[in-house]
Amino acid sequence: MYRTNTCGELRLGNAGMEVTLSGWVQASRDLGGMTFIDLRDRYGITQLVFNMEDDAALCQQARKLGREFVIQATGTVRERTSKNPNRPTGDIEIVVTALKTLNASKVPPFTIEDETDGGDELRMKYRYLDIRRNPVQEKLIFRARVALETRKYLSGAGFIEVETPNLIKSTPEGARDFVVPSRVNQGQFYALPQSPQTFKQILMVAGMDRYFQIVKCFRDEDLRADRQPEFTQIDCEMAFVTREDILQTFEGLTRHLFQTVLNVDLGEFPRMSYDEAMTRYGSDKPDVRFGMEFVEFNDLAKGHGFQVFDDAELIVGICVPGQAETYSNKMLNDLTEWVKRPQIGAKGLVNIKLQADGSIKSSISKYYTDEQLKAWAEKAGAGANDMILILSGETDKVRKQLNELRLEMGTRLGMRAPGTFKPLWVVDFALLEWDEEANRFHAMHHPFTSPKASDIDRMLDGDHETMKSLRADAYDLVINGVEIGGGSIRIHDRALQEKNFKLLGFTPEQAENQFGFLMGAFEYGAPPHGGIAFGFDRLCAMMKGETSIRDFIAFPKNNQCRDVMIDAPSSIDDAQLKELALKVEGRK
Ligand code: AMO
Repeated sequence: MYRTNTCGELRLGNAGMEVTLSGWVQASRDLGGMTFIDLRDRYGITQLVFNMEDDAALCQQARKLGREFVIQATGTVRERTSKNPNRPTGDIEIVVTALKTLNASKVPPFTIEDETDGGDELRMKYRYLDIRRNPVQEKLIFRARVALETRKYLSGAGFIEVETPNLIKSTPEGARDFVVPSRVNQGQFYALPQSPQTFKQILMVAGMDRYFQIVKCFRDEDLRADRQPEFTQIDCEMAFVTREDILQTFEGLTRHLFQTVLNVDLGEFPRMSYDEAMTRYGSDKPDVRFGMEFVEFNDLAKGHGFQVFDDAELIVGICVPGQAETYSNKMLNDLTEWVKRPQIGAKGLVNIKLQADGSIKSSISKYYTDEQLKAWAEKAGAGANDMILILSGETDKVRKQLNELRLEMGTRLGMRAPGTFKPLWVVDFALLEWDEEANRFHAMHHPFTSPKASDIDRMLDGDHETMKSLRADAYDLVINGVEIGGGSIRIHDRALQEKNFKLLGFTPEQAENQFGFLMGAFEYGAPPHGGIAFGFDRLCAMMKGETSIRDFIAFPKNNQCRDVMIDAPSSIDDAQLKELALKVEGRK
């Protein structure tokens, strides 16, 4: 037997017991005639003690153990004289009588402690050592709990977990596909699914009624903190449902997860249309933990000789509370440089400060009288010591820029602290997005999303301008400014689906070639249906108040899309290439 107990469970009540523990040497200390070893496993750390006077040979043996050696120790549980109140096992120690080295270890390349000295790349290369650290381990255990509660809730609500294939057909819509060459069908390729979208719709046609899957998805896109090339979705679909049924069901799931895992009551989820979100926050995933909502100033700004505003399509600002005194000219200059960085791309930043004594100070006082600027302050609801920050330009661009500034100011003022959770449904997205450069429409969600029932006639008959105004029966779940999930009511009628593909620039042949199987299925009694997918990694990170999803994934990719532990991707040998009938430039 390797162990009678784990390293996290012994307490004062166990004093006098003979136990055997197995684990890793976290640290060792020699103090005079005594040697102390902190023994670690997944469950905690227990102190082992060796006394030179009692057993010199055993003590010598203990002194030879290095960090991360795997050992087995047998001994008696004893109350400690100097207790460690920071450790659950801190009241006891094990007086060791027998010690066995189960495996030696090289000196680890970074410290295996909560605060490590290892950089990102090193930690990823030695991921097995990184996962020994509490913070990483806790995140993976947290993820497992969220997955388990998801399964419990959805199974309880009658959802069936069905696996869908990973080797599917490449479709150019959406992100780039990862492709897999076929050996049996040379010159042809599978694609890894970006999501099980078409399969879950087929399952509805097949009568499964309520489907879910915790499923890997693959997208060949540039990495960010909240994006990995392979990530996991809680993917769901339901038949015979309206949008309302879906929002209720998944609000229920989200509430259940927060309640059971975090003991947080999320309450009712407010809803906001896409248009309203863009006007009030300049974002389709607003962080509504704090205010600083957009205020539009076109009516007050134009016609006073300030060319920048006269030429702008939109003049819009936010009122930053209590910061007029704090923000010196130097700080405002720095903030102006911040919004001018290429990542934000604003041309400049205008400010109006309402001083504590009620007077006005502004970077545009050359063009506007104090009285006029007071009207701006009034419109923004600004009080003493508040500061209004204003950007101007093309509507879409300026909203995006001000959204970044709003989030930055929210962060600086500590209004986005982890621990508070504000969910929001964003609904009524546009169906189509016009791409000026490509001179074509894109589906805002995906090509299977249904227009709102009231817009179907306009979609079938309308002109180009009408198409821009069509609303989709699509919704996103946003929590604390993170897009946690998205879904829609689907088209289940062949003619409407064909029309949608046509609007998206598919020829009938292309549509048939890529999605004929789905449109064919629609001809055999497809029920009305809809669904949603949650980004599971993002959900876990957001629940834990973190922005990076990386540590919620056991073996993530680095910024260059590489797994540095196994060194993938890698080249393959000539025989494999030949078998797949593939040619690689520079190789015979
Ligand atoms: P969508 O593309 O919006 O919808 O994806 C759903 C959710 O998945 C998460 N997500 C990601 N997480 C990590 N890394 C990525 N690269 C990544 N890409 C997306 C997001 C997102 O909200 N089939 C549809 C869903 C449906 O209509 O039912 C779909 O995949 O949190």
